[in-house]
Amino acid sequence: MSDLRVGIVGVGVMGADHAERIVRKTAGARLVAVSDADLARAEALAGALSVGSTSLAGSVRVVEDPLDLIAADDVDAVILASPGFAHAEQLFACLEHGKPVLCEKPLTMDAESALRVVEAEHKVGRQLIQVGFMRRFDPEYAALKQLLDSGELGRTLVLHNVHRNKSAAPTFRSEMIVRDSMVHEVDVARWLFDSEITRITVRTPQPTSLVADGVLDPQLALFELANGAMADVEVFVNFQVGYEVRCEAVAERGSATIGLGSGVFTRAGGQWGGAMPADFRVRFEQAYDIEVQRWVDATVRGEIDGPSAWDGYAAAAVCEAALESLGSGRPVDVTLADRSKVLG
Ligand SMILES: NC(=O)c1ccc[n+]([C@@H]2O[C@H](COP(=O)([O-])OP(=O)(O)OC[C@H]3O[C@@H](n4cnc5c(N)ncnc54)[C@H](O)[C@@H]3O)[C@@H](O)[C@H]2O)c1
Repeated sequence: MSDLRVGIVGVGVMGADHAERIVRKTAGARLVAVSDADLARAEALAGALSVGSTSLAGSVRVVEDPLDLIAADDVDAVILASPGFAHAEQLFACLEHGKPVLCEKPLTMDAESALRVVEAEHKVGRQLIQVGFMRRFDPEYAALKQLLDSGELGRTLVLHNVHRNKSAAPTFRSEMIVRDSMVHEVDVARWLFDSEITRITVRTPQPTSLVADGVLDPQLALFELANGAMADVEVFVNFQVGYEVRCEAVAERGSATIGLGSGVFTRAGGQWGGAMPADFRVRFEQAYDIEVQRWVDATVRGEIDGPSAWDGYAAAAVCEAALESLGSGRPVDVTLADRSKVLG
C-alpha cells in the first residue's frame, strides 16, 4: 500500500517536531506539504527536510495558504499545529474536504465553537478528527490506565497531579495556564476515570515573585467527576527547575504513581540524583511518536485511534468553567451538551 501523504499546517515548535517525526520515525507516512503564516519558516523547514534526500522526505512543498494545503489533492491527511485560535476555520476546511486531521490541542478556543466542530463532524458521518492529547499514548500513563481498569486496586477514588514547567514566556498569562497547561490534566482525569468533569474549582496561592504582575502562577484546581471521584492538580509553569509531570492515583486497595523521573540515578561529586528534562518534548517524546504512528495507522484504516472531537469539546467546556472559577475562587459547574443528543 502507498504511504499516507501528510500535510502540516503550522510549523513552529510543535509542527516542526511533528514534521521531523513523520519524516524520520513514522512508518507508512510521507510529508508532502507544509504551510505557515510565516512563509520563511515554512520554506526553511521544507528546505531542511528536502535536502538531497531520497532517504528523508523526498520533496516537501510549501503552500502559502493553509486552506489550499488542506484542499490539495496530494494531501491525504493533515496535522494541525497552528495556534489554537486558527483551529476552528482549518478544522471546518478538513471536514469539508473529508480530510482526516490530527489537531493539536486545544480543539478550538471555546466550548461553543468546539461543539459546532463536533456537530459538523457528526454530519459528515465519520470520525475525521483526533485531538492531540498525547499523554494517553505515554507508556507510563497507558500502564496506569491499564492497572486502574484491571480493577486490581479496587475503585479509583482520587487523582493527585503535578504539572510544572521550567519557565514560560512573559506572554503566558493566567488564562493560558488553564487553557494550555491544565487542559492536559483535564483530559487525563476524564480518560482515567472514563467520566465527565462536572464541577471545577481553581484557587491560587501567593504567586511566585518571578512572574509579571497579575500572572497567577501556580494554580491549584479541584475537579469533581460525574462518577463521584475527584482529582486535584498543581500547575506551576515557572518552577525554574525543569519539566515535571506526576500523577498519583489513589484507589480502594492501593495507589500508583507515575512520572517519578527515575531514569538514570547518579551518585557523584558528593551528590546523588538524576536529571530533569527542561522541555516537554523530551519527557513525552515517546508519547508523540506513538500518537503519530497510531494516528497514521488508524487513518489508513479510515478510523481514529485516540481522543475524539468530543474529548476536545469536553476539555474546552471544563476550561471555560475553570476560567470563571479562577476569577471568583468559587466552584463552577461545567455545562456540557447532552452527548447522546449531539452524537445521536
Ligand atoms: N500536545 C502538546 O503537548 C503540545 C505542546 C505544545 C504545543 N501544543 C499545541 O500545538 C499548537 C502549536 O503550538 P506551538 O508551541 O508549536 O506554537 P508556535 O507559536 O511555536 O507555532 C505556531 C506556528 O503557527 C504559525 N501560524 C500562526 N497562525 C497561523 C495560521 N492561521 N495558519 C497556519 N499557521 C499559523 C506561526 O507562524 C508558527 O510558526 C498549539 O495549538 C499548542 O497548544 C501542543
